[in-house]
This record gives sequence, structure tokens and C-alpha cells, in this order.
Amino acid sequence: MGVVVVAAGSGTRLGADRPKAFVELAGATILEHALRGVLAAGPAEVVLVVPQAQLAPARQIVERVPAQDVGVAVVAGGAERTESVARGLDALSERVTMVLVHDAARCLTPVAVFDRVVAAVATGAAGAIPGLPVVDTIKVVDERGVITSTPVRESLRAVQTPQGFDRAVLAAAHAAGVLATDDAALVEALGHDVVVVEGDPRALKITTPEDLARAERLLAASG
Ligand code: C5P
Repeated sequence: MGVVVVAAGSGTRLGADRPKAFVELAGATILEHALRGVLAAGPAEVVLVVPQAQLAPARQIVERVPAQDVGVAVVAGGAERTESVARGLDALSERVTMVLVHDAARCLTPVAVFDRVVAAVATGAAGAIPGLPVVDTIKVVDERGVITSTPVRESLRAVQTPQGFDRAVLAAAHAAGVLATDDAALVEALGHDVVVVEGDPRALKITTPEDLARAERLLAASG
């Protein structure tokens, strides 16, 4: 199994003076936390996708984190998340047949979430992604803010990463050249079934300063 960790976003909503993955969380960068979490899931290969200007700092992080015999590559990302994922996929060796795509910003994702995703793909799903039921009622609105529909709440899931796929399926989905906010959307568009497995609140995406504070509290609570 290979993991593409996307960390090439600017993270403007966090309001920091550097790209989000290089912001510190309890004494280490978000990217370092993410890499340690990914390695705990037992991948054969990892690709970190970072901003062009952060290639050298990312390589320093890789040198600091013990990876045993796991190959960890560092490549530059693109302007959109989908492009960053595509560049990461290209950097995986031919032998990788299952790919997990993970947001570095979800750096506290427990290993059990990785395991559930891998198990679902290993037993034949084209794709598997973690998700949680939503607590709010969600509305679909038009450009004027007028509600056009109200999906049944029980049918909704707030989805997370890692998102796992058969590599050939994900490569074909990316070859379509469409942009999306997650990889499952590209695979769904090709007509494949993507299953949702149980997510975890600790797989939150650090986006705002409040999320960073919540992640600090989660780390402190876990000792
Ligand atoms: O922007 P969003 O919050 O959806 O980003 C999710 C993840 O995708 C983050 O970890 C971010 O670093 C990554 N990303 C990327 N390249 C981009 C935009 C986002 O790798 N151009």
C-alpha cells in the first residue's frame, strides 16, 4: 500500500505566516505529525506533496522521522488539491497497487481509520473513505443563498481522509482531468462504488486557529 500525503495548500484560513503543514503543533510541524501517523499504518511507500518552496524543509522532516525501510519521497504540488494528488500518484513506484490519499491537515488520524480503509479496499471495494454522520441539517443553496433542497440528514456523511483506492481506478479517475475537493468524487464520477467506513473525530482537518487549538487539546489528552 502506498500513501500520498497532500500538504501543498497555502492554509490561508489558518492565518499563519507559512503554509499550513509547516505550522507547529505541540512542538512538531503538522507535516511531521502526519508522517508519523501514516508510517504507523505500515505503508510500503509514502509520497509527501508540498509547496515548491518547502521541498528542503520537508526533506529535513523526513530525515528526522524514523521510517525503517519505507521509501519516503518528497515532490512539489500544484495549484489545486487534485493536481497535487496527481503529482503524488506519479511518484509512486509501479509495484504499488493500492493507494491511500491523505490530507496532511488531518494529522491526528488514528491508525484504526487507516486500517478500516485498507481492509475495505483489500476485500474488493474500488474505493473506501472514512466518514461520520452529520449533526447539523444541511441545505443546498443557489448563488443567491436561496435553499433549493434539504437532503435527508440520515443519508449524509462528513467525509475525511485517508481515502483508499485501487491504484488503476484512481489513476483513471485523475486522467479525466476534472477538479474536485476529494478523490472519491472523481472515482464516483467514473461510476465506481466507493464505500464509507467509520471515521473518527480525531481525523479533523486543521483549517482554522480554533481547529489548531482543538488539535493541541487532543494531543495533550492522549498524553
Ligand atoms: O484546501 P483543503 O483544506 O481542501 O486542503 C486539504 C489538503 O489538501 C491539505 O492538506 C492541503 O495541504 C492539500 N492541498 C494540496 N495542494 C493544493 C491545495 C490543498 O496539497 N493546491
